[in-house]
Amino acid sequence: MLPHSFIMIAAIVIIVLTQTLIVVSSVPEADKISSLPGQPQVIFQQYSGYITVDESQQRALFYYFVEAEQDPASKPLVLWLNGGPGCSSVGVGAFAEHGPFQPGDNNVLLKNDYSWNKEANVLYLESPAGVGFSYSTNKSFYASVTDEITARDNLAFLQGWFTKFPEYAKNDFFITGESYGGHYVPQLAQLIIQTKTKINLKGIAIGNPLLEFNTDFNSRAEYFWSHGLISDSTYEDLTRVCNYSSIRRLIQNGDLRGDCDRVNNLLDTEVSNYIDEYDVTLDVCLSSINQQAYVLNQLQETQKIDVCVGDKTTKYLNRKEVQEALHANLIGVSKWSTCSGVIHYDYQNLEIPTIPILGSLVKSGIRVLVYSGDQDSVIPLTGSRSLVNGLAKQIGLNTTVAYKAWFEEKQVAGWTQVYGDILSFATIRGASHEAPFSQPQRSLVLLKAFLEGKSLPSIA
Ligand SMILES: *[C@@H]1O[C@H](CO)[C@@H](O)[C@H](O)[C@H]1NC(C)=O
Ligand SMILES: *[C@@H]1O[C@H](CO)[C@@H](O)[C@H](O)[C@H]1NC(C)=O
Ligand SMILES: *[C@@H]1O[C@H](CO)[C@@H](O)[C@H](O)[C@H]1NC(C)=O
Repeated sequence: MLPHSFIMIAAIVIIVLTQTLIVVSSVPEADKISSLPGQPQVIFQQYSGYITVDESQQRALFYYFVEAEQDPASKPLVLWLNGGPGCSSVGVGAFAEHGPFQPGDNNVLLKNDYSWNKEANVLYLESPAGVGFSYSTNKSFYASVTDEITARDNLAFLQGWFTKFPEYAKNDFFITGESYGGHYVPQLAQLIIQTKTKINLKGIAIGNPLLEFNTDFNSRAEYFWSHGLISDSTYEDLTRVCNYSSIRRLIQNGDLRGDCDRVNNLLDTEVSNYIDEYDVTLDVCLSSINQQAYVLNQLQETQKIDVCVGDKTTKYLNRKEVQEALHANLIGVSKWSTCSGVIHYDYQNLEIPTIPILGSLVKSGIRVLVYSGDQDSVIPLTGSRSLVNGLAKQIGLNTTVAYKAWFEEKQVAGWTQVYGDILSFATIRGASHEAPFSQPQRSLVLLKAFLEGKSLPSIA
Protein backbone atom coordinates (compact mmCIF):
# COMPACT_ATOMS: atom_id res chain seq x y z
CA MET A 1 0.00 0.00 0.00
CA LEU A 2 2.57 2.52 1.13
CA PRO A 3 5.22 1.76 -1.52
CA HIS A 4 2.45 1.66 -4.09
CA SER A 5 1.10 5.17 -3.43
CA PHE A 6 4.66 6.43 -3.10
CA ILE A 7 5.42 5.19 -6.60
CA MET A 8 2.21 6.78 -7.89
CA ILE A 9 2.99 10.13 -6.29
CA ALA A 10 6.55 9.98 -7.53
CA ALA A 11 5.31 9.20 -11.03
CA ILE A 12 2.85 12.12 -10.93
CA VAL A 13 5.56 14.46 -9.67
CA ILE A 14 7.87 13.36 -12.47
CA ILE A 15 5.16 13.78 -15.11
CA VAL A 16 4.22 17.23 -13.83
CA LEU A 17 7.86 18.28 -13.67
CA THR A 18 8.62 17.15 -17.21
CA GLN A 19 5.52 18.84 -18.56
CA THR A 20 6.36 22.07 -16.76
CA LEU A 21 9.86 21.94 -18.14
CA ILE A 22 8.54 21.35 -21.65
CA VAL A 23 6.03 24.20 -21.38
CA VAL A 24 8.55 26.64 -19.95
CA SER A 25 11.44 26.05 -22.27
CA SER A 26 10.63 23.94 -25.30
CA VAL A 27 9.65 26.60 -27.81
CA PRO A 28 12.46 29.15 -27.62
CA GLU A 29 14.88 26.29 -26.79
CA ALA A 30 14.32 24.85 -30.25
CA ASP A 31 15.30 28.19 -31.80
CA LYS A 32 18.25 28.85 -29.51
CA ILE A 33 21.59 29.06 -31.31
CA SER A 34 24.25 27.24 -29.34
CA SER A 35 27.03 28.86 -31.33
CA LEU A 36 27.58 30.10 -34.89
CA PRO A 37 30.52 28.54 -36.74
CA GLY A 38 33.60 30.70 -36.22
CA GLN A 39 32.04 33.04 -33.66
CA PRO A 40 33.96 34.40 -30.67
CA GLN A 41 32.60 33.69 -27.19
CA VAL A 42 29.79 36.02 -26.16
CA ILE A 43 27.69 36.57 -23.06
CA PHE A 44 24.30 37.06 -24.75
CA GLN A 45 21.82 34.58 -26.24
CA GLN A 46 20.93 34.28 -29.93
CA TYR A 47 17.88 32.65 -31.47
CA SER A 48 16.76 31.98 -35.02
CA GLY A 49 14.09 30.06 -36.85
CA TYR A 50 10.73 30.35 -38.52
CA ILE A 51 7.36 31.87 -37.70
CA THR A 52 4.51 30.61 -39.87
CA VAL A 53 2.45 33.52 -41.20
CA ASP A 54 0.01 31.46 -43.27
CA GLU A 55 -0.74 27.94 -42.10
CA SER A 56 -2.71 26.74 -45.14
CA GLN A 57 -0.26 28.16 -47.69
CA GLN A 58 2.77 27.07 -45.61
CA ARG A 59 4.30 30.50 -45.76
CA ALA A 60 6.92 31.19 -43.09
CA LEU A 61 9.32 33.99 -42.29
CA PHE A 62 12.85 33.51 -40.98
CA TYR A 63 14.24 35.62 -38.15
CA TYR A 64 17.52 36.05 -36.29
CA PHE A 65 17.23 37.50 -32.80
CA VAL A 66 20.09 38.74 -30.64
CA GLU A 67 19.45 39.60 -27.04
CA ALA A 68 21.04 42.69 -25.57
CA GLU A 69 24.56 42.17 -24.27
CA GLN A 70 23.46 43.21 -20.81
CA ASP A 71 20.15 43.19 -18.99
CA PRO A 72 17.92 42.20 -21.93
CA ALA A 73 14.75 42.29 -19.81
CA SER A 74 14.98 46.06 -19.33
CA LYS A 75 16.26 46.99 -22.80
CA PRO A 76 13.93 47.88 -25.68
CA LEU A 77 13.10 45.47 -28.49
CA VAL A 78 14.06 46.70 -31.96
CA LEU A 79 12.84 45.16 -35.21
CA TRP A 80 15.09 45.81 -38.22
CA LEU A 81 13.95 45.65 -41.87
CA ASN A 82 16.23 46.05 -44.88
CA GLY A 83 14.73 47.19 -48.15
CA GLY A 84 15.20 46.19 -51.77
CA PRO A 85 12.33 45.47 -52.05
CA GLY A 86 13.37 41.87 -51.52
CA CYS A 87 16.71 42.12 -49.70
CA SER A 88 17.67 40.30 -46.52
CA SER A 89 17.79 41.91 -43.09
CA VAL A 90 19.90 39.00 -41.84
CA GLY A 91 22.50 39.20 -44.61
CA VAL A 92 22.72 42.99 -44.78
CA GLY A 93 21.46 44.35 -41.45
CA ALA A 94 22.83 41.69 -39.11
CA PHE A 95 26.05 40.58 -40.82
CA ALA A 96 27.16 43.76 -42.61
CA GLU A 97 25.65 46.64 -40.63
CA HIS A 98 24.88 46.41 -36.91
CA GLY A 99 24.69 42.82 -35.77
CA PRO A 100 27.14 41.39 -33.23
CA PHE A 101 29.36 39.70 -35.85
CA GLN A 102 30.75 40.27 -39.31
CA PRO A 103 32.26 37.53 -41.46
CA GLY A 104 36.01 37.90 -41.80
CA ASP A 105 38.55 35.75 -43.63
CA ASN A 106 39.10 32.02 -43.03
CA ASN A 107 35.52 31.31 -41.93
CA VAL A 108 35.88 33.40 -38.82
CA LEU A 109 33.25 35.79 -37.42
CA LEU A 110 34.63 39.06 -36.08
CA LYS A 111 33.04 40.85 -33.13
CA ASN A 112 31.42 44.17 -33.99
CA ASP A 113 32.30 46.67 -31.25
CA TYR A 114 29.33 48.86 -32.18
CA SER A 115 26.67 46.21 -32.38
CA TRP A 116 23.16 47.51 -31.78
CA ASN A 117 22.65 44.82 -29.15
CA LYS A 118 24.72 47.01 -26.83
CA GLU A 119 21.57 49.16 -26.56
CA ALA A 120 18.70 46.85 -27.46
CA ASN A 121 17.39 43.38 -28.17
CA VAL A 122 17.48 43.26 -31.95
CA LEU A 123 15.21 41.21 -34.18
CA TYR A 124 16.22 40.79 -37.85
CA LEU A 125 13.42 39.62 -40.13
CA GLU A 126 13.74 38.25 -43.67
CA SER A 127 10.59 39.53 -45.32
CA PRO A 128 8.51 39.09 -47.47
CA ALA A 129 8.47 35.32 -48.09
CA GLY A 130 10.96 34.52 -50.86
CA VAL A 131 13.70 36.64 -49.26
CA GLY A 132 16.68 34.77 -47.80
CA PHE A 133 15.53 31.70 -45.88
CA SER A 134 11.87 32.80 -45.77
CA TYR A 135 9.58 30.84 -48.07
CA SER A 136 6.16 30.09 -49.44
CA THR A 137 5.57 26.49 -50.55
CA ASN A 138 2.87 27.79 -52.91
CA LYS A 139 5.07 29.54 -55.45
CA SER A 140 2.20 31.56 -56.90
CA PHE A 141 2.74 33.84 -53.91
CA TYR A 142 5.91 35.15 -55.56
CA ALA A 143 4.11 36.26 -58.74
CA SER A 144 3.03 39.63 -57.36
CA VAL A 145 4.09 40.74 -53.91
CA THR A 146 2.83 44.11 -52.71
CA ASP A 147 3.41 46.49 -49.79
CA GLU A 148 0.02 45.48 -48.42
CA ILE A 149 0.90 41.78 -48.39
CA THR A 150 4.30 42.50 -46.84
CA ALA A 151 2.82 44.60 -44.03
CA ARG A 152 0.13 41.97 -43.30
CA ASP A 153 2.69 39.13 -43.17
CA ASN A 154 5.04 41.22 -41.03
CA LEU A 155 2.23 41.79 -38.55
CA ALA A 156 1.36 38.06 -38.52
CA PHE A 157 5.05 37.41 -37.94
CA LEU A 158 5.14 39.75 -34.93
CA GLN A 159 2.06 38.13 -33.40
CA GLY A 160 3.63 34.69 -33.79
CA TRP A 161 6.98 35.89 -32.52
CA PHE A 162 5.51 37.44 -29.37
CA THR A 163 3.69 34.17 -28.71
CA LYS A 164 7.06 32.44 -28.83
CA PHE A 165 8.80 35.13 -26.75
CA PRO A 166 6.03 36.43 -24.44
CA GLU A 167 8.54 37.91 -22.00
CA TYR A 168 9.31 40.65 -24.57
CA ALA A 169 5.71 41.88 -24.87
CA LYS A 170 6.24 44.40 -22.04
CA ASN A 171 9.44 45.94 -23.45
CA ASP A 172 9.32 49.18 -25.42
CA PHE A 173 9.10 48.25 -29.09
CA PHE A 174 10.65 50.11 -32.04
CA ILE A 175 10.59 49.41 -35.77
CA THR A 176 13.66 50.42 -37.75
CA GLY A 177 14.99 49.91 -41.24
CA GLU A 178 16.43 51.56 -44.30
CA SER A 179 15.94 52.27 -47.99
CA TYR A 180 12.74 50.49 -49.11
CA GLY A 181 12.22 50.11 -45.37
CA GLY A 182 10.84 53.64 -45.89
CA HIS A 183 7.76 51.70 -47.03
CA TYR A 184 7.91 48.55 -44.86
CA VAL A 185 8.53 50.32 -41.54
CA PRO A 186 5.78 53.00 -41.50
CA GLN A 187 3.29 50.65 -43.18
CA LEU A 188 3.80 48.00 -40.48
CA ALA A 189 3.56 50.63 -37.73
CA GLN A 190 0.34 51.97 -39.24
CA LEU A 191 -1.15 48.47 -39.46
CA ILE A 192 -0.35 47.81 -35.79
CA ILE A 193 -2.25 50.98 -34.88
CA GLN A 194 -5.15 50.41 -37.28
CA THR A 195 -5.69 46.83 -36.11
CA LYS A 196 -5.28 47.89 -32.47
CA THR A 197 -2.82 45.03 -32.02
CA LYS A 198 -1.46 44.97 -28.48
CA ILE A 199 2.16 45.80 -29.22
CA ASN A 200 4.07 48.32 -27.16
CA LEU A 201 5.08 50.43 -30.20
CA LYS A 202 6.96 53.59 -29.20
CA GLY A 203 8.70 54.78 -32.33
CA ILE A 204 10.15 54.18 -35.78
CA ALA A 205 13.50 55.09 -37.33
CA ILE A 206 14.27 54.90 -41.05
CA GLY A 207 17.59 55.46 -42.80
CA ASN A 208 17.92 56.84 -46.36
CA PRO A 209 14.29 55.86 -46.85
CA LEU A 210 12.18 55.94 -49.98
CA LEU A 211 9.36 58.26 -48.88
CA GLU A 212 8.16 59.97 -52.03
CA PHE A 213 9.16 58.75 -55.50
CA ASN A 214 9.60 62.05 -57.35
CA THR A 215 11.29 64.02 -54.58
CA ASP A 216 13.64 61.19 -53.61
CA PHE A 217 14.72 60.20 -57.11
CA ASN A 218 14.94 63.74 -58.47
CA SER A 219 17.24 64.74 -55.61
CA ARG A 220 19.85 62.44 -57.13
CA ALA A 221 20.70 64.80 -60.00
CA GLU A 222 21.82 67.64 -57.76
CA TYR A 223 23.68 65.21 -55.53
CA PHE A 224 25.66 63.75 -58.45
CA TRP A 225 26.40 67.21 -59.78
CA SER A 226 27.42 68.81 -56.47
CA HIS A 227 29.71 65.89 -55.66
CA GLY A 228 31.47 66.13 -59.00
CA LEU A 229 30.15 62.85 -60.39
CA ILE A 230 28.55 64.41 -63.49
CA SER A 231 29.24 67.41 -65.74
CA ASP A 232 27.39 70.71 -65.85
CA SER A 233 25.84 69.76 -69.18
CA THR A 234 24.51 66.41 -67.94
CA TYR A 235 23.09 68.11 -64.86
CA GLU A 236 21.34 70.55 -67.16
CA ASP A 237 19.94 67.65 -69.22
CA LEU A 238 18.65 66.08 -65.99
CA THR A 239 16.85 69.30 -65.09
CA ARG A 240 15.64 70.33 -68.56
CA VAL A 241 15.45 67.25 -70.80
CA CYS A 242 14.64 64.23 -68.66
CA ASN A 243 14.64 64.15 -64.87
CA TYR A 244 15.75 61.14 -62.90
CA SER A 245 12.32 60.14 -61.58
CA SER A 246 11.18 59.82 -65.20
CA ILE A 247 14.27 57.77 -66.06
CA ARG A 248 13.66 55.50 -63.08
CA ARG A 249 10.00 55.04 -64.00
CA LEU A 250 10.89 54.18 -67.62
CA ILE A 251 13.55 51.68 -66.50
CA GLN A 252 11.02 49.96 -64.22
CA ASN A 253 8.56 49.70 -67.10
CA GLY A 254 11.25 48.48 -69.49
CA ASP A 255 10.51 51.50 -71.64
CA LEU A 256 13.67 53.63 -71.58
CA ARG A 257 14.41 55.17 -74.99
CA GLY A 258 14.87 58.47 -76.84
CA ASP A 259 16.08 61.51 -74.89
CA CYS A 260 15.71 59.87 -71.50
CA ASP A 261 17.84 56.92 -72.64
CA ARG A 262 20.50 59.32 -73.93
CA VAL A 263 20.60 61.28 -70.65
CA ASN A 264 20.78 58.08 -68.63
CA ASN A 265 23.71 56.82 -70.73
CA LEU A 266 25.59 60.08 -70.17
CA LEU A 267 24.94 59.78 -66.46
CA ASP A 268 26.18 56.17 -66.31
CA THR A 269 29.29 56.90 -68.33
CA GLU A 270 30.28 59.95 -66.31
CA VAL A 271 29.64 58.41 -62.89
CA SER A 272 31.53 55.25 -64.06
CA ASN A 273 31.13 51.66 -62.95
CA TYR A 274 33.77 51.97 -60.26
CA ILE A 275 31.71 54.13 -57.95
CA ASP A 276 29.57 52.69 -55.21
CA GLU A 277 26.48 54.83 -55.63
CA TYR A 278 25.47 53.88 -52.10
CA ASP A 279 28.56 55.74 -50.84
CA VAL A 280 30.28 57.97 -53.34
CA THR A 281 33.45 58.25 -51.24
CA LEU A 282 33.92 54.58 -50.41
CA ASP A 283 36.08 52.25 -52.51
CA VAL A 284 34.28 49.43 -54.30
CA CYS A 285 34.70 45.72 -53.71
CA LEU A 286 36.73 44.94 -56.80
CA SER A 287 36.14 41.19 -56.78
CA SER A 288 32.40 41.73 -56.97
CA ILE A 289 32.37 44.22 -59.87
CA ASN A 290 33.99 42.42 -62.82
CA GLN A 291 37.36 41.21 -64.06
CA GLN A 292 38.20 44.55 -65.67
CA ALA A 293 38.15 46.06 -62.23
CA TYR A 294 41.58 44.56 -61.59
CA VAL A 295 42.98 47.14 -64.00
CA LEU A 296 42.37 49.58 -61.20
CA ASN A 297 44.45 47.62 -58.75
CA GLN A 298 46.29 50.72 -57.66
CA LEU A 299 43.17 51.53 -55.61
CA GLN A 300 43.99 51.31 -51.93
CA GLU A 301 42.18 48.90 -49.68
CA THR A 302 40.41 50.74 -46.89
CA GLN A 303 41.59 49.85 -43.42
CA LYS A 304 38.51 50.16 -41.27
CA ILE A 305 35.65 49.17 -43.53
CA ASP A 306 35.56 45.84 -45.33
CA VAL A 307 33.91 46.76 -48.63
CA CYS A 308 33.71 43.06 -49.53
CA VAL A 309 31.67 42.07 -46.47
CA GLY A 310 28.65 41.38 -48.70
CA ASP A 311 30.50 38.66 -50.62
CA LYS A 312 31.77 37.13 -47.40
CA THR A 313 28.27 37.08 -45.92
CA THR A 314 26.92 35.27 -48.98
CA LYS A 315 29.64 32.63 -48.62
CA TYR A 316 29.08 32.34 -44.89
CA LEU A 317 25.28 31.96 -45.00
CA ASN A 318 25.60 29.33 -47.75
CA ARG A 319 27.73 27.01 -45.63
CA LYS A 320 25.82 23.89 -44.59
CA GLU A 321 27.01 24.01 -40.97
CA VAL A 322 26.02 27.69 -40.70
CA GLN A 323 22.52 26.94 -41.97
CA GLU A 324 22.26 24.08 -39.47
CA ALA A 325 23.38 26.30 -36.60
CA LEU A 326 20.77 28.88 -37.67
CA HIS A 327 17.98 26.26 -38.02
CA ALA A 328 17.58 27.58 -41.57
CA ASN A 329 16.38 25.66 -44.59
CA LEU A 330 16.52 26.38 -48.29
CA ILE A 331 13.00 25.82 -49.55
CA GLY A 332 12.34 26.26 -53.26
CA VAL A 333 15.73 27.92 -53.85
CA SER A 334 19.17 26.39 -54.35
CA LYS A 335 21.10 29.01 -52.39
CA TRP A 336 20.73 31.90 -49.97
CA SER A 337 21.11 35.28 -51.69
CA THR A 338 21.28 38.86 -50.43
CA CYS A 339 18.32 39.94 -52.55
CA SER A 340 15.58 37.61 -53.69
CA GLY A 341 15.74 36.10 -57.16
CA VAL A 342 12.26 34.60 -56.93
CA ILE A 343 9.99 37.46 -55.89
CA HIS A 344 8.26 39.68 -58.41
CA TYR A 345 7.58 42.76 -56.36
CA ASP A 346 4.94 45.09 -57.71
CA TYR A 347 7.07 48.06 -58.79
CA GLN A 348 4.03 50.31 -58.92
CA ASN A 349 4.22 50.22 -55.14
CA LEU A 350 7.42 52.29 -55.22
CA GLU A 351 5.18 55.22 -56.11
CA ILE A 352 3.08 54.95 -52.95
CA PRO A 353 4.05 57.98 -50.86
CA THR A 354 4.74 57.04 -47.24
CA ILE A 355 5.42 60.55 -45.95
CA PRO A 356 1.71 61.00 -45.03
CA ILE A 357 1.93 57.82 -42.94
CA LEU A 358 4.77 59.41 -40.95
CA GLY A 359 2.38 62.28 -40.29
CA SER A 360 -0.36 60.04 -38.97
CA LEU A 361 2.10 58.10 -36.79
CA VAL A 362 3.29 61.34 -35.23
CA LYS A 363 -0.31 62.29 -34.55
CA SER A 364 -0.76 58.94 -32.77
CA GLY A 365 2.16 59.82 -30.51
CA ILE A 366 4.70 57.56 -32.21
CA ARG A 367 8.23 58.99 -32.29
CA VAL A 368 9.61 59.27 -35.84
CA LEU A 369 13.25 59.62 -36.84
CA VAL A 370 14.41 59.95 -40.45
CA TYR A 371 18.19 59.76 -40.79
CA SER A 372 20.51 59.96 -43.79
CA GLY A 373 23.98 58.67 -44.45
CA ASP A 374 25.27 61.79 -46.19
CA GLN A 375 27.48 60.00 -48.77
CA ASP A 376 24.56 58.14 -50.34
CA SER A 377 23.56 59.15 -53.87
CA VAL A 378 20.76 56.59 -54.17
CA ILE A 379 18.37 58.23 -51.69
CA PRO A 380 20.24 61.46 -50.93
CA LEU A 381 19.83 63.40 -47.69
CA THR A 382 18.50 66.46 -49.51
CA GLY A 383 15.28 64.78 -50.63
CA SER A 384 14.64 63.26 -47.19
CA ARG A 385 15.39 66.52 -45.38
CA SER A 386 12.98 68.54 -47.51
CA LEU A 387 10.27 65.89 -47.15
CA VAL A 388 10.54 65.88 -43.34
CA ASN A 389 10.66 69.66 -43.20
CA GLY A 390 7.59 69.86 -45.47
CA LEU A 391 5.72 67.34 -43.33
CA ALA A 392 6.45 69.29 -40.14
CA LYS A 393 5.04 72.45 -41.74
CA GLN A 394 2.01 70.64 -43.06
CA ILE A 395 1.02 69.10 -39.73
CA GLY A 396 1.92 72.21 -37.76
CA LEU A 397 4.93 71.00 -35.80
CA ASN A 398 7.27 73.79 -34.78
CA THR A 399 11.01 73.38 -34.67
CA THR A 400 12.07 72.44 -31.14
CA VAL A 401 15.77 71.93 -31.93
CA ALA A 402 17.05 74.20 -34.71
CA TYR A 403 19.29 72.69 -37.43
CA LYS A 404 22.65 72.11 -35.81
CA ALA A 405 25.67 69.83 -35.71
CA TRP A 406 25.69 66.84 -33.37
CA PHE A 407 28.81 65.25 -32.00
CA GLU A 408 30.49 61.99 -31.25
CA GLU A 409 33.96 61.91 -29.67
CA LYS A 410 34.37 65.66 -30.17
CA GLN A 411 33.89 65.42 -33.94
CA VAL A 412 30.81 66.45 -35.91
CA ALA A 413 28.85 63.24 -36.45
CA GLY A 414 26.16 64.91 -38.56
CA TRP A 415 23.44 67.53 -38.42
CA THR A 416 19.99 67.37 -36.90
CA GLN A 417 16.68 69.17 -36.58
CA VAL A 418 13.76 68.28 -34.32
CA TYR A 419 10.10 69.22 -34.74
CA GLY A 420 7.57 69.20 -31.91
CA ASP A 421 9.88 66.92 -29.87
CA ILE A 422 8.48 63.94 -31.79
CA LEU A 423 9.65 64.16 -35.41
CA SER A 424 13.37 64.40 -36.13
CA PHE A 425 15.77 64.44 -39.01
CA ALA A 426 19.48 63.68 -38.70
CA THR A 427 22.38 63.13 -41.04
CA ILE A 428 25.29 60.85 -40.28
CA ARG A 429 28.49 62.40 -41.58
CA GLY A 430 30.58 60.14 -43.78
CA ALA A 431 27.97 57.42 -43.84
CA SER A 432 26.65 55.36 -46.72
CA HIS A 433 23.15 54.28 -47.68
CA GLU A 434 23.76 51.50 -45.16
CA ALA A 435 24.89 53.99 -42.53
CA PRO A 436 25.86 51.56 -39.72
CA PHE A 437 28.11 49.71 -42.19
CA SER A 438 30.40 52.68 -42.85
CA GLN A 439 29.83 54.73 -39.65
CA PRO A 440 29.10 52.12 -36.98
CA GLN A 441 30.06 54.25 -33.98
CA ARG A 442 28.05 57.32 -35.00
CA SER A 443 25.10 55.12 -35.91
CA LEU A 444 25.11 53.51 -32.47
CA VAL A 445 25.10 56.93 -30.78
CA LEU A 446 22.14 57.93 -32.95
CA LEU A 447 20.26 54.73 -32.09
CA LYS A 448 20.84 55.18 -28.35
CA ALA A 449 19.54 58.76 -28.37
CA PHE A 450 16.52 57.73 -30.44
CA LEU A 451 15.60 54.82 -28.17
CA GLU A 452 15.95 56.97 -25.04
CA GLY A 453 14.01 59.84 -26.61
CA LYS A 454 16.92 62.19 -25.91
CA SER A 455 18.59 64.87 -28.03
CA LEU A 456 21.69 63.97 -29.96
CA PRO A 457 24.89 64.92 -28.13
CA SER A 458 26.19 68.48 -28.47
CA ILE A 459 29.89 69.26 -28.27
CA ALA A 460 31.35 67.97 -24.98
C1 LIG B 1 -1.57 29.46 -54.27
O1 LIG B 1 -1.58 30.87 -54.17
C2 LIG B 1 -2.38 31.51 -55.13
C3 LIG B 1 -2.11 33.01 -55.08
O2 LIG B 1 -1.80 33.46 -53.80
C4 LIG B 1 -3.83 31.14 -54.84
O3 LIG B 1 -4.69 31.80 -55.75
C5 LIG B 1 -3.98 29.63 -54.94
O4 LIG B 1 -5.29 29.26 -54.57
C6 LIG B 1 -2.98 28.91 -54.04
N1 LIG B 1 -2.97 27.50 -54.33
C7 LIG B 1 -3.27 26.59 -53.42
C8 LIG B 1 -3.16 25.16 -53.85
O5 LIG B 1 -3.59 26.87 -52.28
C1 LIG C 1 10.00 65.22 -64.20
O1 LIG C 1 9.64 64.98 -65.52
C2 LIG C 1 8.26 64.69 -65.73
C3 LIG C 1 8.06 64.31 -67.18
O2 LIG C 1 8.63 65.26 -68.04
C4 LIG C 1 7.43 65.88 -65.30
O3 LIG C 1 6.06 65.58 -65.42
C5 LIG C 1 7.75 66.23 -63.86
O4 LIG C 1 7.07 67.40 -63.50
C6 LIG C 1 9.23 66.41 -63.66
N1 LIG C 1 9.50 66.60 -62.25
C7 LIG C 1 10.32 67.53 -61.80
C8 LIG C 1 10.43 67.64 -60.32
O5 LIG C 1 10.94 68.26 -62.51
C1 LIG D 1 4.23 77.29 -33.36
O1 LIG D 1 4.76 78.60 -33.53
C2 LIG D 1 3.77 79.57 -33.83
C3 LIG D 1 4.50 80.89 -34.17
O2 LIG D 1 5.54 81.14 -33.26
C4 LIG D 1 2.83 79.71 -32.64
O3 LIG D 1 1.84 80.66 -32.92
C5 LIG D 1 2.18 78.36 -32.38
O4 LIG D 1 1.39 78.41 -31.23
C6 LIG D 1 3.24 77.26 -32.21
N1 LIG D 1 2.59 75.98 -32.18
C7 LIG D 1 2.82 75.09 -31.23
C8 LIG D 1 2.07 73.81 -31.35
O5 LIG D 1 3.61 75.28 -30.31
